[in-house]
Amino acid sequence: MTDPLSTPIALEERAYEGARLTSPSAERNQGVISEVLAEHLPLQARVLEIASGTGQHALAITRARPDLTWQPSDPDQASRASIDAWAALGEGRIAPALAIDTCVSNWFEAYIDQISSLYCANMIHIAPWAAAEGLFEGAGAILSRSAGVFMLYGPFLEGEASAPSNLDFDVSLKSRDPRWGVRALSDVVALGAEHGLSLSARIAMPANNLMLKFERVEG
Ligand SMILES: C[S@@+](CC[C@H](N)C(=O)[O-])C[C@H]1O[C@@H](n2cnc3c(N)ncnc32)[C@H](O)[C@@H]1O
Repeated sequence: MTDPLSTPIALEERAYEGARLTSPSAERNQGVISEVLAEHLPLQARVLEIASGTGQHALAITRARPDLTWQPSDPDQASRASIDAWAALGEGRIAPALAIDTCVSNWFEAYIDQISSLYCANMIHIAPWAAAEGLFEGAGAILSRSAGVFMLYGPFLEGEASAPSNLDFDVSLKSRDPRWGVRALSDVVALGAEHGLSLSARIAMPANNLMLKFERVEG
């Protein structure tokens, strides 16, 4: 069944069964994303997922890495209901979804000692740049207390090497909302540096996406 009132936070039609939403793109990419996260997340990490969306990634990743403790979140109520519905299949490894909006000042303070790593997919291009700024501020603060990692997935622009599909996507996003847009990798890396985080891996993913790994700069 397809929801005729499909939410404007998603750029695709989502199927639903009760509260559980299914994103076609998450269905496609959950396998490769899980493989990469499984390789890079530290053992027994307590992971905060920002912008969990439907919750499909949370379930796939915790199935691939049962040692992880997973804390999903999303500011959207229907998404949180979907995350919790998928989490019911997760054998108790996925906590109830939190309402986290990275544009809210100091959103991370309540979680700083409970979380050791972060993951966020497909959010910073479909939100104002302030959402990326808040995300990196929180990641910097959380990783200042733990030796964890911050994994960031999505499309990025890389100057003349930008994929044509990402340039087209950028134009289409800006026509929907001028505050949105595919972010330049150089701007994202500079934002990380402002918060004491350095890019330690750039992993090419299908469909011209990247998985970026940020870690705390020593010293
Ligand atoms: C395209 S969906 C991505 C969902 C999922 N991560 C995935 O890759 O399938 C973007 C999500 O970002 C969330 N979002 C938008 N602005 C946000 C913000 N400022 N802080 C946290 N999440 C936000 C939306 O509610 C939405 O669920």
